[in-house]
Amino acid sequence: MTFAPPASSKFLGALKGAVYACPPIWLMRQAGRYLPEYRELRTRAPSFLDFCYTPKLAVEATLQPIRRFGFDAAILFSDILVIPDALGQDVGFETGEGPRLAPIETRADFEKLRTDLDFSKLSNVFETVERVRGALPGDTALIGFCGAPWTVASYMIAGRGTPDQAPARLFAYRQPEVFAALIQRLVEVSAEYLVRQLRAGAQAAQIFDSWSGVLPVAEFERWCLAPTRAIIERVRAQIPDARIIAFPRGAGTHLSRYAPIPGIAALGLDIPVDPRWAAANLPPTLALQGNLDPLALLAGGAGLDEAVDRILEAFAGRPHIFNLGHGILPPTPIEHVEQLLRRVRAAKQ
Ligand code: CP3
Repeated sequence: MTFAPPASSKFLGALKGAVYACPPIWLMRQAGRYLPEYRELRTRAPSFLDFCYTPKLAVEATLQPIRRFGFDAAILFSDILVIPDALGQDVGFETGEGPRLAPIETRADFEKLRTDLDFSKLSNVFETVERVRGALPGDTALIGFCGAPWTVASYMIAGRGTPDQAPARLFAYRQPEVFAALIQRLVEVSAEYLVRQLRAGAQAAQIFDSWSGVLPVAEFERWCLAPTRAIIERVRAQIPDARIIAFPRGAGTHLSRYAPIPGIAALGLDIPVDPRWAAANLPPTLALQGNLDPLALLAGGAGLDEAVDRILEAFAGRPHIFNLGHGILPPTPIEHVEQLLRRVRAAKQ
């Protein structure tokens, strides 16, 4: 079953096109290392993936930023790389160094992957969703998520983060058929993964395409835009009112190509997008999410207030969800997040 949205959720209201003088706010990576209570909790599991797969810990990590700051939405605590893990690829996280996966270099490596998801692991994530929904205040929405196929594939192929995703781009040029099959597999399993999160109690879902900014336009259309459209179509075929936010980081003016995707609920804007360009060029009823520079938040002071005001002004009069343009940085002081919330919540039209 799907859960009825709480009538008073401003976040869900904005996704349906409502305009608020003081917009709803949540922050990408709002659970995590900038919170002392997260750092303490994190010591209770041996590995980051164990942490994600332990509902007691993941529920608590999801709720921590809500308790402290009262954001309008919680985002499920998990990671985009649980999908390669549930497809049978070896995935680990090195403390301080990021993800390490057994890289997919050949067709044979691809063929070793499962064709379906290992739910013995992912059922823990759905249990987390259910328990978080039960614990959240009625006006706080719950967001599920997955990585976009291109971004997830880029980690599966390189086996780690790289500055420009060159290994995946080369693989796609050299072995286009195998790459297309990998993207197709990710479309299918990601859609199913989102459907299960929504059925467990998530009221919206975000598709993170963190690396869509490194591709030429033809590859962008094939590997970023089309798979995102396909996931949205598949999810909505099963849950017609599913609300999905696309976050194609680095897409720049290609953002205009996401706006017409049938059923898209909102577009996430990253750091360099000019809010005035977005407000003027993207459909006026489409909710836009973003896009404060996480470094402005880290720095604080008068510059933070000014940056917040510029964003509020640019999006005034249209559906807007206040957020960062990318994830919050671990050294961000708690007081600066409090300052941001005060500023956004004092907004008047
Ligand atoms: O609060 C939230 O936003 C929910 C949880 C969440 C995490 N990762 C937790 C996490 C979400 C939505 C993600 C998404 C994610 N994961 C993305 C897309 C968004 C983006 O940042 O571009 C990507 C590319 C990943 C893959 C990933 N996970 C990397 C590259 C790393 C290492 C870098 C880092 O920040 O450490 C992770 C680890 C990770 N995911 C941490 C957290 C809190 C840190 C690990 C720890 O606490 O030990």
